[in-house]
Amino acid sequence: KNLDTLYRQVIMDHYKNPRNKGILEDGSLTINMNNPTCGDRIQLTMKVEDGKVTDSKFEGEGCSISMSSASMMTQAIKGKNIDDALKLSKIFSDMMLGKEYDDNIDLGDIEALQGVSQFPARIKCATLAWKAMEKGLNENNQ
Ligand code: FES
Ligand code: FES
Repeated sequence: KNLDTLYRQVIMDHYKNPRNKGILEDGSLTINMNNPTCGDRIQLTMKVEDGKVTDSKFEGEGCSISMSSASMMTQAIKGKNIDDALKLSKIFSDMMLGKEYDDNIDLGDIEALQGVSQFPARIKCATLAWKAMEKGLNENNQ
């Protein structure tokens, strides 16, 4: 199997079996965001305690790229402190822009989305959940 096939399987797995689907009732942060080009939307809830994202869930409707990216994102930020979560978001954004990115940290499943950088129309799909996360954490940081 080539890497593309493997990556596609990871993306489809997150789409069909989303991690962290739902709404955190005790979530300290709630962010709603939509992709204006298609109307797809996400509601992200995050619990932040002592500067750390201790839990995160998402709800929404969208294409396989947006929903799988949300699933991967919520998985990746759990347990991270705010700065590290934002750093990961920067890495993801660089990856989407086809820029060099810091791959010294373990990106886990997120790497499966790197091929999206080849399809400019889909980059907004992949970054939707990340933009929501950034917005929530930046507001929380103030
Ligand atoms: Fe068309 Fe996302 S807006 S694929
Ligand atoms: Fe709407 Fe992908 S087509 S987020």
